Amino acid sequence: MSRRVRLGAVGAGWWATSNHFPIFAAREDVDLAGVCGIGSELEAVREQFGFGMATNDYDELLDQDLDAVVISTPHDLHHPQAVAAIDRGLHVLVEKPVTLTAEQGWDLADRVRAAGVHFLAPYGWNYKPFTIEAKRLVAEGHLGEIQHVLCHMASPTLGLFAGDTNHIRSLWDSKTSGPDPRTWQSPARGGGYAHGQVTHSSAMLFWLSELRAASVMAKVSNGQAAVDLFDAAVITFDGGALGSLSGAATLPDGDPYQVDLRIFGTEGVLMLDTERERVSLHRYDGRRWDLDIPPGEGAYECIVPPNRFVDLITGASTENNSDADVAARSVELIDAMLRSAAAGGAEVAVRHGVGARQHHHHEESA
Ligand SMILES: NC(=O)c1ccc[n+]([C@@H]2O[C@H](COP(=O)([O-])OP(=O)(O)OC[C@H]3O[C@@H](n4cnc5c(N)ncnc54)[C@H](O)[C@@H]3O)[C@@H](O)[C@H]2O)c1
Repeated sequence: MSRRVRLGAVGAGWWATSNHFPIFAAREDVDLAGVCGIGSELEAVREQFGFGMATNDYDELLDQDLDAVVISTPHDLHHPQAVAAIDRGLHVLVEKPVTLTAEQGWDLADRVRAAGVHFLAPYGWNYKPFTIEAKRLVAEGHLGEIQHVLCHMASPTLGLFAGDTNHIRSLWDSKTSGPDPRTWQSPARGGGYAHGQVTHSSAMLFWLSELRAASVMAKVSNGQAAVDLFDAAVITFDGGALGSLSGAATLPDGDPYQVDLRIFGTEGVLMLDTERERVSLHRYDGRRWDLDIPPGEGAYECIVPPNRFVDLITGASTENNSDADVAARSVELIDAMLRSAAAGGAEVAVRHGVGARQHHHHEESA
């Protein structure tokens, strides 16, 4: 690509201004063509990062001469905004959860394939050196056939889901206001811990394992909040593996995020822990890998994904660890969990109704 990547951004709130925009603004090969948002701070954001234009109207943003769009809006807007961009042939970075329903998730994956565009969901942990090494070990087949999975996550995010969202700014600050509570705390707009955080642990699980959920029994509990703070599920995966999932929004401030995956196969076990920085793969034949991971390396950061998105577009990289397929498998699990929970914990099929088509997993990375 000879010219710079012309980026448009929709959603210019806390996360976009604290994480994505500084990263893009620092790159020589990116032209920040335009920004779209609602609210009074938009012009200040345009000026801070040097966007070419600012608008409240998404169609006006898409009418600019763009190569790609970065979508960092409230959860329920991701699907329609991504569809509009993909259908114009634009590459898209779509914030998690990429959609709220399985059907919308696979709809995006289908459109991305048909349009031949790049799609990246910025799941930061999928780009850490230690998780990439874990992925490499799993891909070499050292687990054998996966029979059982544990997938746990906990986060210091009570304020985000139940209180004053400005609290999160002690972790990631920006010049704009803290997140709009409606982004995180509205049941109708995909608020809650499952869509907000289990999306990360499940996306890491599905990327690492290549599993796909088949049926789910789940319960969630809200505590004093309007949305789920605690999630528990029993999952059956395609191929018969059994799994348990837990999520909790209420770690004390300053505690590291917990993502604890344990994957039990016919030939060995993988244990991956972000809190205490562990990746171990131990095989029944005695071969063992215990990675040396620098302390602090498990802490959440999302530096690589926006950079990788640009590198995919320019051709500087071909490795996408969080493509539309991984994102859709995460969405369909959470959709089924929340449907099961709404039905009192009854077992529900992940593929149901008209969305129940067979999709092929495809590996984008070498
Ligand atoms: N990948 C990660 O690690 C990570 C971390 C934090 C947040 N996020 C995600 O980023 C997204 C944004 O979260 P946030 O905390 O910044 O929220 P926020 O409430 O601070 O920002 C939302 C933005 O969307 C804009 N917006 C709302 N309605 C709009 C509309 N109709 N048209 C155009 N723009 C509109 C608002 O003006 C605002 O700029 C969410 O999907 C969230 O889950 C991802």
